Amino acid sequence: MAQRAEQSPRVWIGADLPRIDGLGKLGGSARYVDDLVVEGVLHGGTVRSPIARGRIKRIHFDPAVDWREFVIVDHRDIPGVNSVAMIEKDMPALAAQEVRYRYEPILLIAHRSIRKMREALRAIRVEVEPLPAILDPEQPLTPELTQYRDDNVFKRVDIRKGDVEAVFATAPHVITGEYRTGAQEHIYLETQGMLAFREGGRMVACGSMQCPYYVLNALAYAFGRPPENFRVIQAATGGAFGGKEDYPSLLAVHTLLLAEKAGAPVKMIYDRQEDMAATTKRHPSRVRQRTAVDRDGRLLAMDIDVLMDGGAYVTMSPVVLSRGCIHAAGPYSCENVRVHGEARLTNSTPYGAFRGFGAPQTLFALERHIDVIAQQLGLDPVELRRRNLLREGQTMATGQVYRDGPDLTALLDRALELGSYDERRRQHAAFNRTHPYLRRGIGLATFCHGAGFTGSGETYLASKVAVEGLPDGSVEVLTAQVDMGQGVITVFTQIVADFLGLTPAQVHVADSDTSRVPNSGPTVASRTVMVIGGLLEKACDDLRVQLGVGAGTAAAALQDAIRQWHGAHSGQHLLGRAQYVQPQEIVWDDKTYRGNAYAAYAWAAHVAEVEVDLRTYAVQVTDYVALQEVGKVVNPTLARGQIQGGVAQGIGWALFEEVVLHEGAMQNAQMTNYAIPTCQDLPPIRVYFDEQPSRYGPAGAKGLGELPMDGPAPAILNAVCSAVGASLDTIPLTPERLMERMEGDGG
Ligand code: MOS
Repeated sequence: MAQRAEQSPRVWIGADLPRIDGLGKLGGSARYVDDLVVEGVLHGGTVRSPIARGRIKRIHFDPAVDWREFVIVDHRDIPGVNSVAMIEKDMPALAAQEVRYRYEPILLIAHRSIRKMREALRAIRVEVEPLPAILDPEQPLTPELTQYRDDNVFKRVDIRKGDVEAVFATAPHVITGEYRTGAQEHIYLETQGMLAFREGGRMVACGSMQCPYYVLNALAYAFGRPPENFRVIQAATGGAFGGKEDYPSLLAVHTLLLAEKAGAPVKMIYDRQEDMAATTKRHPSRVRQRTAVDRDGRLLAMDIDVLMDGGAYVTMSPVVLSRGCIHAAGPYSCENVRVHGEARLTNSTPYGAFRGFGAPQTLFALERHIDVIAQQLGLDPVELRRRNLLREGQTMATGQVYRDGPDLTALLDRALELGSYDERRRQHAAFNRTHPYLRRGIGLATFCHGAGFTGSGETYLASKVAVEGLPDGSVEVLTAQVDMGQGVITVFTQIVADFLGLTPAQVHVADSDTSRVPNSGPTVASRTVMVIGGLLEKACDDLRVQLGVGAGTAAAALQDAIRQWHGAHSGQHLLGRAQYVQPQEIVWDDKTYRGNAYAAYAWAAHVAEVEVDLRTYAVQVTDYVALQEVGKVVNPTLARGQIQGGVAQGIGWALFEEVVLHEGAMQNAQMTNYAIPTCQDLPPIRVYFDEQPSRYGPAGAKGLGELPMDGPAPAILNAVCSAVGASLDTIPLTPERLMERMEGDGG
């Protein structure tokens, strides 16, 4: 790819092309699913379990309501299998005999009037006989709590490198720690929503989603009909962050069930409270670290135990755990590593995909622990990192060789310089000695994030894309990748414009509609630019081959060739195609977890400065430097936006966002008492890129969407620890939690 990249100059890749969908979203002409006006539409609602676990005894319908006006659907109306097809098929679309989490869907109703539908929901009461629920994954298992296989374990991951125990037996220092992270709610601007209707012999689901083909497969499975009978269309989507990776499959099945029974179009739009209470969240985690180090602070052995609360059904837990475990040893060189991970069932709302996909949890534990090690050895945390960061030719925990990456110590040094690290440390020391109640501190995190599906995932997906030459000489980009706010439409336009030598105006990105676009896999896992963008480069090559023109053909000549082709092949489609094939050197063994977990990683060093008020225990982040190496940056403004948004979300997870669980479900399911950071709570987020073109992405681009979620929590906690001189291990670090640690058992 690198050779081809030199053949024609890059004009658009690297340019700040304004968002193509921006004006429509700003001005209100973009149509989100709830904006779609459909003649005769009914409004659907969901009756949910009142408790965490139990047997459904009876469903009471208040006789004061005329139920003949309503369409009512339960599990018996499912024509195929009562299951939402994901990684596993354990989650029913509608609970039949048993419920496994509070707010689990049991019954669906629809009516012409939203108001009547909502009133009717309150007139249905489900009687559930309670069964013992397990709400904490660390709670000892008894036979009556067992609900998945014989141990409630959704997935185990074991990574082994070297001989950890032999090293622990003789190591000069062994340092342990335990770190905990809470759940996190996505708070996408637009809540979950779906519209379903019939179109000739085909059933259509249109809504807010990341993965149209996941939805298509789930519909085919639940309805027991071939995928060709369905069409799935992504409507304009107001944010997702992983929250629309798996959940829309469930919602689409529900909406289509109602529409089929009603013989009319049906819309289901969750309000904020329902969305927060009933949909997936980030997995809470507990990570134990045991680390052997020599006197100079070199990592001799790392033993890491990861536990994730998976919630009531499997959903995405196996792959979230997998990514978490692979990232658990971070960007450090260590010859002996053992990572053991488990995702276990609890009777909580299923935990699912959320930006970072398990890596923020394990990287929080690691990056806090690195500071703990430094503190216990009396070393500077910067120096400890400098001594252990990967160098060319060294191997990561899975045995993947570090090569073609940036000089990580240089990346760290630059971040420290941008954050005026040394100078501020001196200033803070002086300030903290004299100020009566404010304490300042600075902290850092060095980390990495793999782009694309883990391990052999991309091989299994075998994504397909196409670039179509249209009769007017313009080009259309056909992929299932969705723009959920991150800028797919714009960056794909830039990539294809450059690879065909066209202008952005001559390129159009097709809507993600399964009746038109090939299955290029889900819009997740920081895979879109690197993996799908890379395929688009190949599809552009294929288009030129079909036209018989060479690379470097000027725009006018290429457009002429397209028009001429159509002259000779009237009514046919001119498609340049490509399908993913794993590069030969990317080898992964799913059984042993050895090999190249990702074709490429992005690398980062973040520096956070905080001020803690000892009167209120509120933490304010006062400055934030985010430096990352992400390969070629396709669109600097959009990339900066991704980093700033991810850092803001990371600050929320670190300091503010506390999911209060009651019976395993979110008790504070309103934005008034689930606090996310506003612009008042955010520091200047200063974003810097280092660009080392990767051989695996288009023009050298890698993934960057999830990376910024990994750094803020450990960098901020490290800063708070340096400010107040405590050792903190749990997020969210709310004022209450900090007060307990500082004033509770003697600090
Ligand atoms: Mo993502 S958390 O891979 O949708």
